[in-house]
Amino acid sequence: MLKKNDEYIVEIIDNGFQGEGIAKIDGITVFINEAIKGEKIKIKILKVLKNFAYGKIIEILESSKARKTPDCNTYSRCGGCNLRHIEYNETLKIKKAIVENCLYKELKKEIKVEDVIGMKEPIYYRNKLQYPVGVDKDNKITMGVYSARTHSIIPTQKCYIQNELCQEIANDILEFARAHNVSAYNEETLKGTLRHIIIRIGVKTGEVLVTLVLNDNNLKDEAKLTDYLTIKHPNIKTIAKNFNKKNTNVILGDKTEIIYGPGFIYDILGEYKFKISPLSFYQVNPIQTEILYNTAVQHVGAGPVSARNDIALDLYCGIGTIGIFASKYFKKVYGIEIIEQAIENAKENAKINNVENIEFYAGDVEKVLPEIIKKENLKPNIIFVDPPRKGLDKNTIETILNLNLEKIIYISCNPATLARDIAMLEEKYDLKEVQPVDMFPWTSHVECVTVLYLK
Ligand SMILES: C[S@@+](CC[C@H](N)C(=O)[O-])C[C@H]1O[C@@H](n2cnc3c(N)ncnc32)[C@H](O)[C@@H]1O
Repeated sequence: MLKKNDEYIVEIIDNGFQGEGIAKIDGITVFINEAIKGEKIKIKILKVLKNFAYGKIIEILESSKARKTPDCNTYSRCGGCNLRHIEYNETLKIKKAIVENCLYKELKKEIKVEDVIGMKEPIYYRNKLQYPVGVDKDNKITMGVYSARTHSIIPTQKCYIQNELCQEIANDILEFARAHNVSAYNEETLKGTLRHIIIRIGVKTGEVLVTLVLNDNNLKDEAKLTDYLTIKHPNIKTIAKNFNKKNTNVILGDKTEIIYGPGFIYDILGEYKFKISPLSFYQVNPIQTEILYNTAVQHVGAGPVSARNDIALDLYCGIGTIGIFASKYFKKVYGIEIIEQAIENAKENAKINNVENIEFYAGDVEKVLPEIIKKENLKPNIIFVDPPRKGLDKNTIETILNLNLEKIIYISCNPATLARDIAMLEEKYDLKEVQPVDMFPWTSHVECVTVLYLK
């Protein structure tokens, strides 16, 4: 029987969904942080549960060739990256295996998964910084990344995956908050003002959108902060206050007030320009997003002219990016998205880009999809679906199955729910293509474009 604090020498037989090493002791699976497949390691057992256990590395007896020294000094505690101790190319192999394992588990057969498309320079890639605010051990306001599996903040003044200008602006906001006694929100007492600092940049346009999430209506010295930031950083085009007074882990509240600028920024992806507002979803790695969208659209299959009679749906369309990318291959595209502000952006984005054959609907896909199919008497040929991490709901899968589409192009940021949904879609569809794209280097997250063909 495994017991807490027991020590063992183990072989790491695989890496798991969080990139952690996996060993077996007496048939029990043991998860070991920062261990790499192929290594021989002395471990100490940290926790034993019914069917598995957690251990930690005491000594690496035989190290993997893929092991490298992490370049970030908060890495071992940080809840952001979890693969910085592994050479980048090897992290891509681990991600491919994660996708293969998820598909194998659900579909009970081997599926060909393409090699993950990685980044040439996987550094400072995020266009969105999102730091919680709290207090440090000296009770001073601070911001940063949550340490792994906790809500304790690791003060973060530099981060190798964040856009450097976003980080610089966040540092300035923190400095201002300290100098002007702006209080930090306290998750226990539910008191204090500043909850989150969110900074987005349109990497191609350089335009910056600052959103301060508040637990109060008022932000102390708001006008001074606005002047200070916009004089120092002319790239800032909009500053917004978002109000979230609920006791919740959800970051953004429903209400936003613009305190500087027009309320949005622009970015460019491929040949298109996109307007982005504080509440709208926008992919966080713009370099890889172009690859992701081009990979998805390339699977439409027909050239621009021959396919023009076809109808496409872009479900969970955000600000309309995929639909707009695909619009030249279709007679008409319909997009559905739950966030009203994103749909306003999407409509505007179609206009800015002179895309006339696209129509957007705000609402829950589960409800709106069957409604518009009926109302417009739609017979779509192809759908793009790009749901949030929880994947598709059963009713939407049912609706999709009844449409008899030629192809489903399913884009997913969660291979587990992707595999679960494909298992249901397999009733009528064959999974033919699985192309993972590394949208989140150094983390164990992986995005996939998959293509399903009607049987
Ligand atoms: C992974 S994002 C994809 C957005 C877009 N396709 C893109 O690439 O930027 C998922 C989107 O689904 C939206 N969403 C979440 N639940 C939804 C629902 N039930 N119905 C419609 N949209 C939903 C989110 O607001 C978000 O914009």
